Amino acid sequence: MTDPFSPLAHAARHAEAYRRRIARAETTPVDSYAQVLARFAGPLPESGGDGVAIIEELVAAAEGGIRATTAPRFFGWVIGSSHPTGVAADWLTSAWGQNAANVLAAPAASVAEQVAIGWLLDLLGLPSSASVGVVTGATVANFVCLAAARSEVLRRVGWDVESDGLFGAPEVRVLIGADAHATVFSGLKYLGLGARRVRTVATDDLGRILPADFEKALGEYSGPTIAVAQSGQICTGAHDPFAQIAPLATAAGAWLHVDGAFGMWANASAELSHLTAGIELADSWATDGHKWLQTPYDCGFAIVRDGEAHRRAMAISASYLTPASDTERDPSTYVPELSRRARGFAVWAMIKQLGREGIAAMVEQDVAVARLMAAGMAKIEGVELVCEAELNQFMVRFGAGQSDEEGDRLTLATVEQVQADAAAFIGSSQWRGRWVMRVSVCSVATTPEHGAMTVEAVRAAWEKVRIRG
Ligand SMILES: Cc1ncc(COP(=O)(O)O)c(C=O)c1O
Repeated sequence: MTDPFSPLAHAARHAEAYRRRIARAETTPVDSYAQVLARFAGPLPESGGDGVAIIEELVAAAEGGIRATTAPRFFGWVIGSSHPTGVAADWLTSAWGQNAANVLAAPAASVAEQVAIGWLLDLLGLPSSASVGVVTGATVANFVCLAAARSEVLRRVGWDVESDGLFGAPEVRVLIGADAHATVFSGLKYLGLGARRVRTVATDDLGRILPADFEKALGEYSGPTIAVAQSGQICTGAHDPFAQIAPLATAAGAWLHVDGAFGMWANASAELSHLTAGIELADSWATDGHKWLQTPYDCGFAIVRDGEAHRRAMAISASYLTPASDTERDPSTYVPELSRRARGFAVWAMIKQLGREGIAAMVEQDVAVARLMAAGMAKIEGVELVCEAELNQFMVRFGAGQSDEEGDRLTLATVEQVQADAAAFIGSSQWRGRWVMRVSVCSVATTPEHGAMTVEAVRAAWEKVRIRG
């Protein structure tokens, strides 16, 4: 039996070796689910084991099945690079075993979170008085913000939803852009507002809400209303016209929520903040730390202008939970969970690591790389640029000039070939009913050279698909 503390350093050595390897040589795993399962599976252990040996076994079982999301040529979904400093802070979080429920249980975690969210509001150009819950990601952040919205729009018409629920409550109307992210609908489902029971607002060719239809929708109902806008459409990276729609929502007494999982980080850059103009006028905002702040998974922020509504929707009280004093802040007051990871340590560490300038520079570089890649791919014969990279996301299709169905087939085949060639990772998606290759640049590790190499990898994969027919 090894010393019970030895697995810590042992795991750290493996982690460092992995990250050094992945930073140099892009590899995406080729092991199938069945192969990985065969390595992990086994009978329920009847007796305990040796810590170091277990970590060795874990690494051997997992590494062939680790998707290289931290690599510089990873362009799938919208995934940040889990920066080593954030990971190190997160290891300490686990080692310290802090449960970020309240100040008494986790004093330093509560303080780190409070300081980090102050910095976050400053970085994102949001009101310094807004309240923030540090959650798992934008999915839960959307849910928390919509819970605060539901609480407040119903309170204004004399209904206490926290106490009395939704049965018999005045109807809450939800307006939402036609190209909203799927996870906003999850929030509506959890809150009893109904994913289908929404008024869909028309959008333009990049998925941006059309202000005229937004205004029309607001005029159709005079009762409690929540409007959901977006900063960073998942396929196009586009932003709703906040400066136009926020005053309309305010005039109609509606709560305006913004899902800004990655897009609102444009507001951290003086060069790009024109894209998010007016975003600070909203009532609530959901964003991620694990995307453009590069914290490790998981980390998101539910940001609410009206702290009272936020607390009403989330606060937990029990006799055994000593509340924080007036000058302190209990992290659990702003999130759905009582017990949870102390994510504030990694957020604090990552903002210190990159700084205001480093965050702006990273966002700007990622956008520049996305634009360079889009231009490079558009020059390849047979490739059609579906949308320019306004931010860090763009789409291409393969088989230009061929039928829609053939274009779908060639596009999916090329995505598969890029993944199989493993020089880079890019995924697929649907846009306006057709398959596309969707590229997301969201890593501090990605440089223009990585972008250029990836354009060549796409060219080579497309050539193989063309030759195969
Ligand atoms: C616009 C948007 N909203 C919400 C989400 C969900 O975020 P998360 O996966 O962090 O919960 C995403 C994820 O990519 C997104 O792009």
